[in-house]
Amino acid sequence: RRCDQMPPAADPPLTTTPTQDDLKRVAAYHAVDLVQSGMVLGLGTGSTAVHALDRIGDLIRRGTLRDIVGIPTSTKTEAHARAVGIPLSDLDVHPVVDLSIDGADEVDPHLNLIKGRGGSLLREKMIEGASKRFVVIVDETKMVNLLGGSGMAVPVEVIPFCSKFTMSNLRRLFSGIPGFHLRLRTTPGDEMTPAVTDNLNHVIDLFFEDGITSDLDAVSDAILKIVGVVEHGMFLGMATSVIVAGKDGGVTEIN
Ligand code: 5RP
Repeated sequence: RRCDQMPPAADPPLTTTPTQDDLKRVAAYHAVDLVQSGMVLGLGTGSTAVHALDRIGDLIRRGTLRDIVGIPTSTKTEAHARAVGIPLSDLDVHPVVDLSIDGADEVDPHLNLIKGRGGSLLREKMIEGASKRFVVIVDETKMVNLLGGSGMAVPVEVIPFCSKFTMSNLRRLFSGIPGFHLRLRTTPGDEMTPAVTDNLNHVIDLFFEDGITSDLDAVSDAILKIVGVVEHGMFLGMATSVIVAGKDGGVTEIN
C-alpha cells in the first residue's frame, strides 16, 4: 500500500480546532480535486459524501466543472444533488462510471470497507462496483485494524418477506462466534417499525464484538448464500484509494 501526503485542497474552510465534520469536509474536497469535466460520477451517501456534493455543485455553478453527470447512490443523495445543481443519470443510461466518491463506516489496512450505516449499501455497491475508480473519503476515526472492530455493524439488506426467518438463518451462521449478536434495524424513534431502505427492503445489523477474525471473502459468500439476503455492507477489494483527513490537519491518500 502507498501512503501519500496530499497538498491542501482549494479553500479548505477549517476552523482552528477542526471538528469531525471539518475533517469530513477536508477529505471530500480533496477527492473532488480528482473530478474533471465530462466525467460520469458516482455520488455517495452520508454526512461525508454530502460535502463532496456541495463542492461539485459549487464548481459546476462557477463553470470550473462542465458536462458532469452524477449517478446518486440513494434517494437522499438524489434530492441533495438536484438541489445543488448536479445533472443526474443512472446505470441503465451510463453503465460505466469514471469516478465514485463516498464515505465509509470502517476502513481496514487492506482498504476493505464496512458501509451502509445510512442504509444505502445496495445502490452504493452497484454504482461503486461499476466505477473505474472508487475513492473513499473518511476522517481518521474510521480507520480500524479489523472490520467490525470498532463496534460498527455489518448491515445486511434482506427482503421484508419473513425477515425473522432470514434473521434466524444469519444467527445460525455465526452462532459459534463469541460476542456475535444481530438485530433488525428499526426506524429512528420507533423501535417497533423496521427501517425500510430505498429498495423497500429491511436491514439486519450484524455485530462482531471482537471484529471479523475469519476470512472476509468466506464470510461474504456465506451471507450471500442465505436466501432472502439481497446484499451486505462489506465492500471487499472495491476501493481504489482512501483519503483520510487527520486531526493534525494532514491529509493522506492510501492506495
Ligand atoms: C451510507 C454509507 C455512508 O457512506 C457511511 O455510513 C458513512 O457515513 P458518514 O459519512 O455519515 O459517516 O455507507 O449507506
